[in-house]
Amino acid sequence: MNELSIFNLSSSIGKIIFIAIVLLIILSSYLSNQPPSSCDMTIATNRNFHNYYGIIGMTNHFTADPAQECQASIIYQPTLPQMILKPDHSASSFMTLAEYGTGKTLLRCEYLRSLSSNEYLKLTILDKLVTQYLDRFIQKMIEGKKDCQKENCLVDWSENEFAQLLLSTLVTNFIDSYDTHKHNGPDLSLDEKINLITIICYYYNGLGTSQLEKFVNWFLNKDLWSHYKADGEHVQPYKHHNQQLLNHLIVDLNKFSILNKNSERLGLLLIILEGEGFQNRAIAKHLYGEHFKDLVEFSSFIKTYFKKTPVFVIDGIDQNVHFVGNENRDSFESFCRSSVSPSILSMVMANHFYLSLFYPKIDGVNIKDVITRKDKFPIHTISWNTKSLINYADYVLQEMNKNAKKTRCKVFPDFKILVNYSDERNAEIINKIPTPRALHRFIAELIPEMNNDANNVVEPFEATFENVDNAYKNSFESFETKTNE
Ligand SMILES: *[C@@H]1O[C@H](CO)[C@@H](O)[C@H](O)[C@H]1NC(C)=O
Repeated sequence: MNELSIFNLSSSIGKIIFIAIVLLIILSSYLSNQPPSSCDMTIATNRNFHNYYGIIGMTNHFTADPAQECQASIIYQPTLPQMILKPDHSASSFMTLAEYGTGKTLLRCEYLRSLSSNEYLKLTILDKLVTQYLDRFIQKMIEGKKDCQKENCLVDWSENEFAQLLLSTLVTNFIDSYDTHKHNGPDLSLDEKINLITIICYYYNGLGTSQLEKFVNWFLNKDLWSHYKADGEHVQPYKHHNQQLLNHLIVDLNKFSILNKNSERLGLLLIILEGEGFQNRAIAKHLYGEHFKDLVEFSSFIKTYFKKTPVFVIDGIDQNVHFVGNENRDSFESFCRSSVSPSILSMVMANHFYLSLFYPKIDGVNIKDVITRKDKFPIHTISWNTKSLINYADYVLQEMNKNAKKTRCKVFPDFKILVNYSDERNAEIINKIPTPRALHRFIAELIPEMNNDANNVVEPFEATFENVDNAYKNSFESFETKTNE
């Protein structure tokens, strides 16, 4: 009797649980098939593109800040030149000449990312860094009584300055990042070491002298008791020092127009030259005019002892204050030409270092002609057409779909559907978009247009002709105000 009632009881509990589970499954599948309330366009707050497609609180790749391009998580590989991004991740020397907005920056970032830091010393030379050297160059010209307001002083920038820029970047980056743990100090002769130290003291572009002291004391195997220090007290009065040698160094360094001249660094060099007994040899020597030889020597030093090949990557210089605008086109051309001059390229071809240039293609600027061996130093372009742009847009939409919120109303459709490309008038406008950057600007303008229309159209967030037309016009206006700034 007892046993039976227990059985009955447990079986009825079992039934209840079973029914409850079935009900829950039915209810939840009913609920999940129900569109979320956010899809109701009669509610004003739902008229939001990002909300609708479930990318709220995420980066919309189309409208992301172009300055953050290096952090982009969506990278469409097929349009990036495979000659630059090699499957074996090796560096190469080339010039990319591409129009504005074609994705140069993205390509540069991917290229740098693809290179192994164990094999290469990666040296990125961007707008800000170049400005420092150009400013000093102009300053020196003004000191030489040139009127750089009236005439364009930067047209005199030559391969000499360019080589100095490379060497200075190399020295600075090396000093700020070398890894002594891998070495006991290279087995170079003292002569060779002093020569390298001299180059470093002249060309270093960083702040202060502490990094230099650290390096030279390690390099010369100095212990705590004998280490060199550019202490103002020791050098300032110059009483016990070789005044003649100091003057010689000052005169020599001053001949360089673009270097960051620092008297404390010369003071450090002076005490090293004295301490190591190099006064006479140093006074018979000068560095001015030796930049090509020194660049080769320093690169070889890094290659041999640190097992890394320098890769110079130059990008973003078209935004430079000295180069922007039509009136500065000649300066820009001089700079670009200096970077591919015969002496520079002969060092590249001798494999002393890699030179990877990312320059904008600007009408009236002629850089290509300087390069005589285009087989050894190729010129790449990045080209887009409507098909590749639509593929790119589809790729971005599909990538964004992967991370979209579950609460979205809809999955992103293909780009052609999103902008109703089947409407010929829409297609005509879309076909005029030349580059990814222009596409981004267009979409940034299209989103508010679609937000405004969300409650008036049959299919919310699929663009009408008016949406596309307005967005295209507005994207041009916003572009023009930006470039006029
Ligand atoms: C797309 O364009 C076609 C042709 O003009 C039109 O019939 C259709 O309604 C449009 N679709 C949307 C979602 O606006």
